[in-house]
Amino acid sequence: MLKRVIALAEEPNVPFSPSGKSFTAVAVNTAAKAGEWIKTKIGAYTKLDLKYSESDLVTEIDKGSEKLIRSLILTHFPTHSFLGEEGVEPGPLASAKALEDASGAEYLWIVDPIDGTTNFVHQFPFFSISIALAYKGEPVIGVVYDPNRDELFVAEKGKGAYLHGKRMSVSADAKLSESLLATGFPADREKALPINMRGLAAVVPKVRNVRNGGSAALHMAYIAAGRLSGFWEIGLNSWDLAAGTLLIQESGGSVTDTAGNPYTLKVRNVLATNGKIHGELVDTLQQADATGL
Ligand code: IPD
Ligand code: CA
Ligand code: CA
Repeated sequence: MLKRVIALAEEPNVPFSPSGKSFTAVAVNTAAKAGEWIKTKIGAYTKLDLKYSESDLVTEIDKGSEKLIRSLILTHFPTHSFLGEEGVEPGPLASAKALEDASGAEYLWIVDPIDGTTNFVHQFPFFSISIALAYKGEPVIGVVYDPNRDELFVAEKGKGAYLHGKRMSVSADAKLSESLLATGFPADREKALPINMRGLAAVVPKVRNVRNGGSAALHMAYIAAGRLSGFWEIGLNSWDLAAGTLLIQESGGSVTDTAGNPYTLKVRNVLATNGKIHGELVDTLQQADATGL
């Protein structure tokens, strides 16, 4: 599978720069290597720490994965900048500052070394590695890898998004009533969680159902693949969203903040859909006072 994905990345006419091919190949290989390593550590972590709250977990495997990813990427691209979750102090203020500090970078790699650490810790097989490359503040490469299913979702700006070498497109669901959605229950129990719960109460009665799989990046990849029609969550970070956003945009969907404003790396309250149910969902969240904005 990996060979097919790399072959895709080596096709001619890479859109945004002559080096785009190697960027994608490095992102794909790095995600695959990190995923293989993490898989060998399922049920075998030795150190569990709390970060921002009692439900915000980190293990030595999160840190090891980030170290591996960082060193592979910077070996290939030593002049590029790197923003990884585990290199940033916990909490929204520190993440906003880290992003601000990195905002001048021409090429910025944005990495979540394990998205879904709670699942990893509990051996619930739904977590991912998320790697994005932003060029002048805009995602141009996005890779989300699910090592449990060996599914690698890859997008290049202007060139589409692919799973197993097949082009992905978002679902055709045109109404909330026929849509399967996802959300998350934020680790920030004081501010973000109550807002998300107001949204959940308003959305559930209107849709076919809502899932909380426990990996924002994988939820986003599933929208790109047409498996989910929408996802929203309050209080996420650039490393949860950058790769998934490009996957969705390149599959024909929409990503904004919860009020419908355009996506930027600074978006924390996210709404991602197949495009067709976007307006209905913005209205629902706004009427429930659940945008957090
Ligand atoms: C978390 C996951 C989860 C979401 C949380 C995130 P982490 O990321 O994406 O699905 O609900 O808000 O923090 O901590 O496992 O990288
Ligand atoms: Ca995450
Ligand atoms: Ca993480």
